[in-house]
Amino acid sequence: MHVTDTHTAYTDTDTLIRVLDAAEAMPAAARLRARSYELLRLPPGATVVDVGCGTARAVAELAELGARAIGVDLDPTMLAVARGRFPDIDVRAADAAELPLDDGQAHGYRADKVYHVLPDPHAALAEARRVLVPGGRIALLGQDWDTIVIDSDQPELTRRIVHARADTIPHPRIARAYRNLLLDAGFHDVEVEVHTAVFTDATLLPILAGHATAADQAGAITGDEADTWVSEQTRRAQDDRVLVAIPMFLAGATR
Ligand SMILES: C[S@@+](CC[C@H](N)C(=O)[O-])C[C@H]1O[C@@H](n2cnc3c(N)ncnc32)[C@H](O)[C@@H]1O
Repeated sequence: MHVTDTHTAYTDTDTLIRVLDAAEAMPAAARLRARSYELLRLPPGATVVDVGCGTARAVAELAELGARAIGVDLDPTMLAVARGRFPDIDVRAADAAELPLDDGQAHGYRADKVYHVLPDPHAALAEARRVLVPGGRIALLGQDWDTIVIDSDQPELTRRIVHARADTIPHPRIARAYRNLLLDAGFHDVEVEVHTAVFTDATLLPILAGHATAADQAGAITGDEADTWVSEQTRRAQDDRVLVAIPMFLAGATR
């Protein structure tokens, strides 16, 4: 059995939650979430919806800031964990393309690491416009999967792995297109920032192993190459020599 065979489960919800918890606990991630809340410019008591809320960390933080925060997610496991962690929050099972909110009900709309997996991001943005009051604010946040930087002794293999993994994602480069998507959907005052998330420890090892597995399954690398690459990254983590940098795009705009 190849080393990476044991890591295919990184796409399951429990593993995703574990990785998100570790990544979102980093001070830089907390600062980035805070910046996304700033871009929403919420008046006190305003209604805000966090779409693809996952375990609802942002929903709880927005509620703490005084907003009437609603989380929406499709995955019942995510919502069960969210309710276990934050019993008082309002989270609802729904699709980003069909939000359980009235027209113009929200002053703020946020989606963090979500649009790359949506079947139809345009439909989700149209739905964002429907639920936002005129003058309401949207913040989209997410990584560019095609430009993940990974230090490795095998740069050519690394490039193949990163690109092959990106190709398995419905919209791997959507984060760099946020501005144009927002403009095309009729939003204005569009602003874009890029913040680089830097990882120097083992936090992302399950994700990196998942990259190698995906590249192997896509036929872009062999199973042996996947094993060698994951072993190198595991060794780097043990020796404190990991360097992964991920560009995180943050776009804000007005309805
Ligand atoms: C990578 S997670 C990010 C979770 C959270 N925003 C965070 O930053 O921790 C993506 C989330 O989007 C949710 N999701 C995927 N497709 C969705 C859809 N069509 N409608 C609503 N949520 C969706 C997933 O269930 C998952 O919880």
